[in-house]
Amino acid sequence: MNMKVRIEPLLVLPLIYAWLACGQNEDLVYLEALRDSWQNIPPNWVGSDPCRDKWDGISCNNSRVTSITLVNINLMGELSGDIGQLSELQVLDLSYNKGLKGSLTQEIGKLKKLLHLHLIGCSFNGPLPLTLGSLPQLTSLSLNCNGFTGPIPPSIGNLSKLFVLDLADNKLSGSIPVSPGLDLLFNTRHFHFGNNRLSGEIPSQLFNSKMTLIHVLFEDNQLTGTIPLTLGLVQKLEVLRLDSNLLSGMIPSSINNLKLLKQLYLSNNKFEGTLPNLTSMSFLNYLDMSNNSFEQSEIPPWISSLQSLTTLMMHDTRLQGKVPVDLFHIPQIENVILRNNQLDGTLDFGESYSESLRLIDVSYNSITAFTQRRYSADLILNNNPVCMGLKARPTYCDDPKESNSSYSTPPNNCIPAAICSVDQVSSPNCNCSYPYTATLTFKATYFSDLGNSTIYTSIQSSMMDSFISNQLPVDSVSLSNPTMNAGNLVINLEIFPSGDVRFNRSGICQIGFLFSNQTYRPPSNFGPYTFLGNSYNFFSAASNGKNKPVSIGVIIGGSVGVCVLVLLLFIVGLHAYRQKRKAKRSTKMNSPFASWDPEKDNGGYPQLKGTRSFTFEELNTFTNNFTATANIGSGGYGMVYRATLPNGQLVAIKRAQHRSTRGGTEFRTEIELLSRVHHKNLVSLVGFCFDEGEQMLVYEYIANGSLKDSLSGTFSSPTL
Ligand SMILES: *[C@@H]1O[C@H](CO)[C@@H](O)[C@H](O)[C@H]1NC(C)=O
Ligand SMILES: *[C@@H]1O[C@H](CO)[C@@H](O)[C@H](O)[C@H]1NC(C)=O
Ligand SMILES: *[C@@H]1O[C@H](CO)[C@@H](O)[C@H](O)[C@H]1NC(C)=O
Ligand SMILES: *[C@@H]1O[C@H](CO)[C@@H](O)[C@H](O)[C@H]1NC(C)=O
Ligand SMILES: *[C@@H]1O[C@H](CO)[C@@H](O)[C@H](O)[C@H]1NC(C)=O
Ligand SMILES: *[C@@H]1O[C@H](CO)[C@@H](O)[C@H](O)[C@H]1NC(C)=O
Ligand SMILES: *[C@@H]1O[C@H](CO)[C@@H](O)[C@H](O)[C@H]1NC(C)=O
Ligand SMILES: *[C@@H]1O[C@H](CO)[C@@H](O)[C@H](O)[C@H]1NC(C)=O
Ligand SMILES: *[C@@H]1O[C@H](CO)[C@@H](O)[C@H](O)[C@H]1NC(C)=O
Repeated sequence: MNMKVRIEPLLVLPLIYAWLACGQNEDLVYLEALRDSWQNIPPNWVGSDPCRDKWDGISCNNSRVTSITLVNINLMGELSGDIGQLSELQVLDLSYNKGLKGSLTQEIGKLKKLLHLHLIGCSFNGPLPLTLGSLPQLTSLSLNCNGFTGPIPPSIGNLSKLFVLDLADNKLSGSIPVSPGLDLLFNTRHFHFGNNRLSGEIPSQLFNSKMTLIHVLFEDNQLTGTIPLTLGLVQKLEVLRLDSNLLSGMIPSSINNLKLLKQLYLSNNKFEGTLPNLTSMSFLNYLDMSNNSFEQSEIPPWISSLQSLTTLMMHDTRLQGKVPVDLFHIPQIENVILRNNQLDGTLDFGESYSESLRLIDVSYNSITAFTQRRYSADLILNNNPVCMGLKARPTYCDDPKESNSSYSTPPNNCIPAAICSVDQVSSPNCNCSYPYTATLTFKATYFSDLGNSTIYTSIQSSMMDSFISNQLPVDSVSLSNPTMNAGNLVINLEIFPSGDVRFNRSGICQIGFLFSNQTYRPPSNFGPYTFLGNSYNFFSAASNGKNKPVSIGVIIGGSVGVCVLVLLLFIVGLHAYRQKRKAKRSTKMNSPFASWDPEKDNGGYPQLKGTRSFTFEELNTFTNNFTATANIGSGGYGMVYRATLPNGQLVAIKRAQHRSTRGGTEFRTEIELLSRVHHKNLVSLVGFCFDEGEQMLVYEYIANGSLKDSLSGTFSSPTL
């Protein structure tokens, strides 16, 4: 008979959503919540309709937000759980905003239509939420260059459409998850996990013949054990980086089945036994087996049969015997690095060594003689017997000069402006502007001759092609200061605007997305790359939106009927409820919760299982002292606040006004009832607070989408 009183909270909450939704863009309230949690949002994020008012970085379809692309605009703050309510979202790209921090909210798992999730180069930290596994449409997950910790969630194996999985450059730990785990990702081309703290063995279940991986990058972790035989099953593999781990044992002969492999990095491990036979890898252009514990052996003859090889790195590998002449006859060979072995005898390039040859480093060996021929490559022979006791030291006996190239894109047939104003830079087309600067890192390049400008001109022109075909306002690009760093080629990049001296926010966002989405592909053989944009501080103050007043309370269109009906029902319901309550107001405030601890579930009140008791202090913290911005509605009973629990869950907190509080037993009965109701159409109760004279109910925060369901669920109950 108390049914009306008990059902009342279920009614009020949906009504608040109805009120919020009346005549507004459905996604507005959540975008506003995101806006309130960020600094440096685009100035045109004003007005009541993000779609109609064309907020920067927002794209819509049928008045629903489908894309948020806020790339490299100095956004600061945290990603609030409100993001989970944008149920039509397909693209979320917040890359290159160093000021974005905090953990990745588990609410992300509600975005069932998400295709691309890119948070590259921000400062997110904490563990990856398990809910990443419930994004069935996801095709790219790029979380590289953040501070994420903890394990790779096995649930990522659920992402059957995933194409790119980039978790590189974080602090992820634990082992690589399989069964359930990443072994199910048959459509994924990219496993980029480099520079983390992953440990344990590479599980043999990880690889199978259904996989379509082309890049497996596990470098710079703490992986142990041997290379699994099953790796040979991944027939499409082109780049394999296992360098700088703690791997050991023999390299399995099945690796020779990887016939399409172009770049193989096995250096800085503890591999043992004989050198692998890689004869089948006819496309291999970069081979690095340096610094391992292989058995003493001669340079194997099959190496000279690798017709695509440009770079051979085998320093610190216990090689002995003579350096075979054939090695220098490989057609494309550029670099031969055999430093710190026990090679001996006479060094001879032979009559017709390759014209491509750039660098030969055979320092720290036991070579006793060198056959002088005309050669143009750099030769490093110091610390060999051949250099000992010579009166006139030939240059090849000198210590090598550090040679990072000083390349910089030259002016394009014009004379650079003598002086540009502060922060402006002269572009290759010789006009002064504010460039967008970034760092490009190529993670497996086939060349190491940084002095050859062909490398840079081919990147420049392919990049310009990509900008032009995507209609981006770019005048030119400039590359400079290339360096080799731990096997990576690192280049500074400047992108100059066309038609103006500066980019606007949407320009920066689009350019950033071109890289974060890997839409730009460098010429083949450049291998995988990452782009890290620097913050762009030159947005024009003049272009800062047209501070339109926020239109309020406009009720338009088809939603009018529903809104009026809902409000009427609300008033009727509230009236009936008040009447009822007047009759049976109980004023005694006892403490019916004293003996009950929901965490321990001590059996006294089993029907309260699943709900949590919050202290006033906790809820006060979660709502920021019940601040006005957290307030999302009010009614006769009090106020409703939105808050995020420490676990990332979004909740609505209904706080009774003091004159509306009722007896403790009555409050408890209500909680009991609510905690037993688990109907798909009803908001479920998360917990309550009965503390410091306050009575509050904590509900799951529901999406607008389920509003109608909630309403019909409530109204069809026999109580109204
Ligand atoms: C917009 O949404 C409708 C369905 O609501 C869909 O049919 C259409 O393809 C979408 N358009 C785009 C460009 O995604
Ligand atoms: C995702 O995977 C986990 C285990 O890996 C499984 O328990 C869960 O049910 C899956 N979730 C979905 C939505 O498929
Ligand atoms: C060889 O690899 C180990 C790690 O396995 C590293 O600490 C060491 O610096 C490397 N030595 C050389 C010469 O690269
Ligand atoms: C390497 O393997 C090839 C076949 O893949 C074989 O013909 C060749 O004899 C092997 N070389 C050595 C040195 O084992
Ligand atoms: C090139 O520059 C990088 C970064 O400045 C440095 O780490 C590396 O040692 C340099 N290498 C050479 C060969 O000078
Ligand atoms: C530079 O490299 C390209 C291709 O990698 C090659 O064709 C060209 O001959 C090289 N140029 C010089 C000057 O070495
Ligand atoms: C930059 O120079 C190019 C060619 O020299 C010219 O076409 C273009 O209009 C200039 N851009 C600006 C912003 O001055
Ligand atoms: C941003 O720049 C692009 C091209 O330079 C231009 O088409 C666009 O209208 C600009 N957007 C705003 C909001 O000014
Ligand atoms: C993003 O990349 C995917 C491939 O991974 C591609 O299909 C899509 O067209 C790209 N999006 C844009 C806007 O370039």
